[in-house]
Amino acid sequence: MVVSVERFQKAKLDDKAVLTFRDKSITLDVYQGTQNEVGIDITELREKTGLITIDPGYANTGSAVSDITFVDGEKGILKFRGYSIEGLAEHSTFVEVAYLILFGKLPTKDEYHEFSHLLEEHTALHTSLEHHFNGFPDGAPPMAILSAMLNATACHHPELLDTELDANNFMTASAKILSKVRTIAAMSYRRSQGFPIIHPNHQLKYCANFLHMMFSQPYREFQVDPVLERALNIFFIVHADHEQNCSASTVRMVGSSRANLFSSVAAGVCALWGPLHGGANREVINMLQSIHKEGKSAAEIIALAKDKKSTFRLMGFGHRVYKNFDPRARILKKHVDKLFEILHKSDPLLDIAIELEEQALNDDYFIERKLYPNVDFYSGILLRAIGIPLNMFTVLFAIGRMPGWMAHWKELLDHNQRINRPRQLYMGYTHRDFIPMDERD
Ligand code: CMC
Repeated sequence: MVVSVERFQKAKLDDKAVLTFRDKSITLDVYQGTQNEVGIDITELREKTGLITIDPGYANTGSAVSDITFVDGEKGILKFRGYSIEGLAEHSTFVEVAYLILFGKLPTKDEYHEFSHLLEEHTALHTSLEHHFNGFPDGAPPMAILSAMLNATACHHPELLDTELDANNFMTASAKILSKVRTIAAMSYRRSQGFPIIHPNHQLKYCANFLHMMFSQPYREFQVDPVLERALNIFFIVHADHEQNCSASTVRMVGSSRANLFSSVAAGVCALWGPLHGGANREVINMLQSIHKEGKSAAEIIALAKDKKSTFRLMGFGHRVYKNFDPRARILKKHVDKLFEILHKSDPLLDIAIELEEQALNDDYFIERKLYPNVDFYSGILLRAIGIPLNMFTVLFAIGRMPGWMAHWKELLDHNQRINRPRQLYMGYTHRDFIPMDERD
């Protein structure tokens, strides 16, 4: 049975679902989540009937029972551990939200200081790890570097490669990864630019320290503007988790084989890299820049996105779950406006984005398919305002998503979930006789 953890037994409804096929019927248990979504438990389906379900892309498959994040795509609701994203983005910091996602509660002052202290303690990389950066060619994609370096970091912590981490070891492992991921990210950027590496400054908080490692020079300390530091906190907070998305499901898939935390999140980085997932934040800016520089009009881009002969999609638009609006996009758009007002700045790409959004939201193609701006539509404009270079955008998403990935890994193991191993509907040849090579056409 999928719902193996005792405390979820209370979710079982008295109602049952009955599936009939030909002369066989099976009665299936039904569970109701705390937000009233209802799921049919099909774990005994194949054993009892020989049937499987078909759901490519898993749009109807509940792959896990989880209490980390809730998304209501119809109403545009996103909550981490019960707290709404709007409240967290307004009042909290990334470190506090990371603690909430990882450990299930907002930290007390003492817990916050303990966790912050662990993050400070683990910022630096082992010097031998710094040599790895020299092995990558110029222009190596930072997402490749990040994924490889997370596995390399694991080699230095054999004591944390166990999947049965107790609470203390999980806190140490997650603090190490959360802290080192920003050091790796900043170093990969410095390496790509041919700049000397800047070591962490323990006086600085999480986001400020990252900006320092990115932008300070040996002869000049980067002065971190608190307005930009806050903007980066908000960017990380809205990305901190998003339930069973492609990369979190990848982390769970890899973790289900009892792979360690480091390699599981490294796999998450690879999944995030793709342009339909985290890579979309770069693609949005590429798209806006092509409109700006090459003089393409918003109407041309919209027409191309609608053209079924083209593979082009309006980047930063559409979502598997959100069919009304993505609350993260709203938060980021609001913050971009505020940021530009405070900084007395502007960005021509913002005007283009607003025009594209307006046209798309009034176009039948987008209305019928319920396609709205997603988190990536405005996030790149925010990152540009902070000064983050384009090739680092998806890396920044990965830093933000790290708490979510680690919490999913831990939850999967706490629930003692079986190894993930879907079935398939085989449509290939039934039998072929082997033909020697020189007799083949
Ligand atoms: N531009 C044009 N058409 C689109 C778009 C888009 N951005 N998104 C979906 N469609 C169309 C799609 O062609 C299909 O049309 P039809 O029914 O005529 O075949 C219909 O809408 C449904 O699309 P789908 O591909 O079945 O939807 P999905 O749930 O599998 O994909 C998505 C969701 C986010 C991958 C997709 O909307 C997309 O490719 N968006 C652009 C990339 C993007 O912004 N990704 C970031 C997602 S949010 C953050 C994250 O998860 O990383």
